[in-house]
Amino acid sequence: MVRPKVYVTRIIPEPGLSLLKEAGLEIDLHESKEEPPSREELIEHVRDKDALLCLLTDKIDAEVMDAAPNLKVISTYSVGFDHIDVKEATKRGIYVGHTPGVLTEAVAEFTWALLLAITRNVVKADKLIREGEWNKPWNPFFMVGPELMGKTLGIIGLGRIGKAVAEKAVAFKMKVIYYDVYRDEEFEKKYGVEYRPLDEVLREADFVSLHVPLLPETRHMIGERELKLMKPTAYLINTARGAVVDTDALVRALKEGWIAGAALDVFEQEPLPPDHPLTKLDNVVLAPHIASATIEARSKMAELAAKNIIAVLRGEDPPALVNPEVKKVRPLSQVKML
Ligand code: GLV
Repeated sequence: MVRPKVYVTRIIPEPGLSLLKEAGLEIDLHESKEEPPSREELIEHVRDKDALLCLLTDKIDAEVMDAAPNLKVISTYSVGFDHIDVKEATKRGIYVGHTPGVLTEAVAEFTWALLLAITRNVVKADKLIREGEWNKPWNPFFMVGPELMGKTLGIIGLGRIGKAVAEKAVAFKMKVIYYDVYRDEEFEKKYGVEYRPLDEVLREADFVSLHVPLLPETRHMIGERELKLMKPTAYLINTARGAVVDTDALVRALKEGWIAGAALDVFEQEPLPPDHPLTKLDNVVLAPHIASATIEARSKMAELAAKNIIAVLRGEDPPALVNPEVKKVRPLSQVKML
């Protein structure tokens, strides 16, 4: 039997590569932990491959797929798949896998880290001490911020991650409201969470946390109009995708006091340039897209990304398929190689 070939665009944690190897795949690895392959390298290496294991920094569009006539499966080491043209993949009978579920708690925990960091001045406080500015005795007005207990958390996007964030709000004794295109009345009952139309979430919440995928409908869903609906005392937390928020509008909102502050893990441009206007503001906390960065999540993501590839090449249903409709274009029996 011919061994299927996979291009892996970065060194990933174990057991990702071992699983691929043990399953009998021939691995072409881009030998870097930090740097993605260039566009040219990506296209060159994918040419003769049956599978592609990519990261969210690799743009996988029609050009890449055209270069790879044997490609049967694209598996991204991420839950988000906005960097992949799924429609084009489906048209060509290419299965697309991702890594939902295994990073849910990691991202939810980091959402709370950001919320607490921005409201309780954690970053500012650390910086102040390091810079030798802690030069006055204790005083009642120093670095005060809002308490969470009794406040309203507004969740936009009540999927796996939005729900995990909501569950943790119970421990903080907060009220939780949410907006999503789907209502989950069972979850509402179980956790005392209330549904609201989007504008009402924005008007009512003291903290708005974004958990929607980036889709054409969610691109810039938080712009000037939405930011102006928020309370001037409210905070925005974004661990979803940068482009869900109109960054220029957000910078104005933060400068002009339409909202109190923001804590952001994702940006329209990544890496965020050090001279970006956001870095000049003191009512923001910034993180370099690390919400899923727990040892556990990163390892499970590697395992799931590998399993998606192995399952497809065995002609089996992959554990996390983005485009189930692809089966009608090319049934699993036609992609079976292992
Ligand atoms: C991270 O942003 C992911 O989509 O997994």
